[in-house]
Amino acid sequence: MDLFSSDSPSQTVQARVDALREQIRHHDYLYYVKSRPKIADSEYDRLFKELQKLEEQYPALITPDSPTQRVGGAPLGQFSKVKHDRPLLSLDSILDVDDVWAFDARLRRELEVDQVEYAVEPKYDGLSVELVYESGLFLRGSTRGDGVTGEDITLNLRTIRSLPLHLQSNSTLPDRIVVRGEVYLPLPDFQELNRRLTERGDGTFANPRNMASGSLRQLDPRLTATRPLVVTCYDLMVSSGNPFATHWEAVSSLAAWGLPIPKPRRLCGSIEDVLAFHRDMAQKRDSLSYEIDGIVVKINDRSFQDRLGEKSRSPRWAIAYKFPARKEVTKVQDIVVSVGRTGALTPVALLDPVEVGGVTISRATLHNMEEVARKDVRVGDTVKVERAGDVIPDIVERIPIPGETRGASFRAPDHCPVCDSMVVQEGPLFYCTGQTVCTAQLKGGIEHFASKGALNIEGLGKKTVAQLVDEGLVADFADIYRLTKEQILHLEGFAEKSATQLLAAIEQSKAPSLDRFLFGLGIHHVGSHVAKVLANHYGALEMVIAATEEDLLQIHEIGPETAHSVMTFFAEPRNLTVLYQMNELGVRVKKISSDEGVQPKPFVGKIFVLTGGLDGFTRQEAKQRIEQLGGRVTSSVSKKTDYVVAGHDPGSKFDTAKKLGVQILNEAEFSNLVKG
Ligand code: IVH
Repeated sequence: MDLFSSDSPSQTVQARVDALREQIRHHDYLYYVKSRPKIADSEYDRLFKELQKLEEQYPALITPDSPTQRVGGAPLGQFSKVKHDRPLLSLDSILDVDDVWAFDARLRRELEVDQVEYAVEPKYDGLSVELVYESGLFLRGSTRGDGVTGEDITLNLRTIRSLPLHLQSNSTLPDRIVVRGEVYLPLPDFQELNRRLTERGDGTFANPRNMASGSLRQLDPRLTATRPLVVTCYDLMVSSGNPFATHWEAVSSLAAWGLPIPKPRRLCGSIEDVLAFHRDMAQKRDSLSYEIDGIVVKINDRSFQDRLGEKSRSPRWAIAYKFPARKEVTKVQDIVVSVGRTGALTPVALLDPVEVGGVTISRATLHNMEEVARKDVRVGDTVKVERAGDVIPDIVERIPIPGETRGASFRAPDHCPVCDSMVVQEGPLFYCTGQTVCTAQLKGGIEHFASKGALNIEGLGKKTVAQLVDEGLVADFADIYRLTKEQILHLEGFAEKSATQLLAAIEQSKAPSLDRFLFGLGIHHVGSHVAKVLANHYGALEMVIAATEEDLLQIHEIGPETAHSVMTFFAEPRNLTVLYQMNELGVRVKKISSDEGVQPKPFVGKIFVLTGGLDGFTRQEAKQRIEQLGGRVTSSVSKKTDYVVAGHDPGSKFDTAKKLGVQILNEAEFSNLVKG
């Protein structure tokens, strides 16, 4: 039968479709919202497949709120802007118990009452979203953006299984509601996804929040659908009809309509109860499967909320009472030295495994020898480790134990632990002088060459590179282009399909842009920004090779160290041989056409600093955009900074900018500026 025939479904088919949808919705609710499934997965699959089959047979019966229609729509070119019904405010945060008392005292004074009731909830560490439902159907969802305008991410939000596409209607359901919630990624899923990314040799995310943000900002909803995001709703911002007298009742209604709400939450008659909830949650925090970074304390009575009103960015009636950063105490088993692609030696502490916020930590970076000396960390010491949102934990300090006998101070090795070449010191850093004979440097160099920001050879990640180098198949960049299928098939983890894919990825990398190629070569002091500067200035690889140190020094932004390093790199016959061989093997570095050269660059000479989270851009995207327009991004604010772009929850850079009188742009202003 033709799937798209207009065979009109009978009433019984329609009834069956309705019944199936109702059942699936109910089981989705039990599974994703209540975490109390009632049927086996196989039974659920059977219902789902039956519905899919009927919808295939009778496409006319498909409705957008059908459980089969969560992942749909073509990938977007870009997200469109959405003006929020009411601003999505931020929260002031406090860490200190005295500030909780002060908050309570201020509110009681302003309200002229002896006691107020607080509703308290966990503070989820995710992304804030606005959800609009009309006639019980999920109509639109958007990011917080600058609080006033966000981006329409409806298609991505629809893929979140705990977000009902269809509310459970009851007599209290208003025709239109606007709900605020938080989207986050559970820790086990974050860890699993990062593990898979590492395996593929792709960059990982530093924390679940970044991964959730990256997932929600995918232009292709099919990709978002592969990320098991979760939503919880903590505010009814707008409702037509049914004004609720308290926050508690409003959130209870959200639950009654089938929306997931914070768990646990509590009504507190006094500030002591609030403190007890904070203590309870701090204790539970490590056993939760998602990240919370504090509790949110809200005045329950909505008329009180209205009386107190709001400041420019945050309400006066609510506060985030945060937990201190996660720290744990453990012992240093050993201090080893790892060698990076530039030959720099990094001391790494191997620790007695310890759980810090649900993650088992067994290594921590000690950054460099100066840091080891400053913290005086030695083998056998007891130390405090901190995981401040990052995957690689940090050693905060050594904890002296009275009466302990300590080992010897840690010293940088004289010889490279990998290739035994001499080690030299440059300022606080120590380097292996092995360069081409050091397999650690070689592996790092090849990994860097193949990485996303450089030649972007998918499938040529850490593990594969290590094998290729250890097997002697790759000793320089040119060797990558000599690899045969037979050689790849001999590597662990490769089969016919993956070997073909890797070869195709290598083939595809043969026409890199000049800046990516220069960056990929791993020349000392040539990061992605300098690579772009060089590419824009010279336009062709031959011109960069031919540049003298004096030429290079003429370029604004190229200092003596960089000029020297670039010149030395291209003066080295071995490097030129590899470039020549790559050319022979078909690598053609693209030239920059004169069209591109004349693109307007309004930000030339302008220095930007980014702080806080942007909803419309990832950090990388914002940086790229600024650089495309000729500007540059630095990490700290000084008098030389022209603009500080402050997203939500900005850090201390925001205050420094204010102090120094540096112009501050919010996300909307920044967005306008780059659109220009
Ligand atoms: S209420 C006007 N409740 O925390 C009140 N926010 O640092 C607005 N958040 O931007 C927020 N859990 O993204 C509220 N239970 C909760 C929350 C919560 C997480 C986030 C929210 C907000 C940020 C403020």
